[in-house]
Amino acid sequence: MNEIKIIQITDLHLNADKSHIAHDINPYNSAQIIINEVIKESKNINSLILTGDLVDDESREGYENLSELLVEAHDKCQIFLMPGNHDSIEEIDKLCKTKNFNNDKYFSINNWIIFMFNTKKNNSPNGILYKKEVDDLQNLLNTFPTKNFMIFLHHHPIIIESESMDKMIIENSEILINIIKNNENIKGVCWGHIHQEIMTKINKTKLFSTPSTCYQATPKSKSFLIDHSAKPGYRVIKLLDDGEIKTHVTRCDI
Ligand SMILES: [Fe+2]
Repeated sequence: MNEIKIIQITDLHLNADKSHIAHDINPYNSAQIIINEVIKESKNINSLILTGDLVDDESREGYENLSELLVEAHDKCQIFLMPGNHDSIEEIDKLCKTKNFNNDKYFSINNWIIFMFNTKKNNSPNGILYKKEVDDLQNLLNTFPTKNFMIFLHHHPIIIESESMDKMIIENSEILINIIKNNENIKGVCWGHIHQEIMTKINKTKLFSTPSTCYQATPKSKSFLIDHSAKPGYRVIKLLDDGEIKTHVTRCDI
């Protein structure tokens, strides 16, 4: 059976200064360890998808640092960049024009369509779904009713019972939840932003989040509380011909 292998890495929070420390972690060093591990351990990767908060301070140097970290990965697979609330969409666009990165909204491979939303709301940490992108997804669902769909977001579309994080949920996520409920060929929905791993379901659709490459959040905490016992990591997603998704998180020592 054919299998598509996607690696998701998320919430790198890089800065202009490579020696910057956040919550007792150096995000540049931590991202470097994770990316090297992905390159070393993961064979036959089709795509590497970075689901936002790539750079914390919106600096051009931060995106140069990202580009430097991914030099070797370019030889292995296509790399897609998505924005998070901390990112500069202009800087991501520049990287995609000048270097070998991609920020297309979707791509098709075998009998799967991979759709990537931009959930960054201007001047806000919250998420939003833009009508144009919702319409694009709905058009693809209408045009390709026999294809399987995998959706990536930065922000979370469901309540995770962490008060501070849930203030930053996708404000109009009920639009996506309704689309999921009405389209059983949406097999998976995946995001970053919350710095922790979650796995749940709506009907038969799998919904899951992925740990950050740097510091982790304590699940179900009232305020943003660092979980010093949780290691950073990345996610492996295998999309099978029959619509099944096999996925797991790999955590790394830093
Ligand atoms: Fe975020």
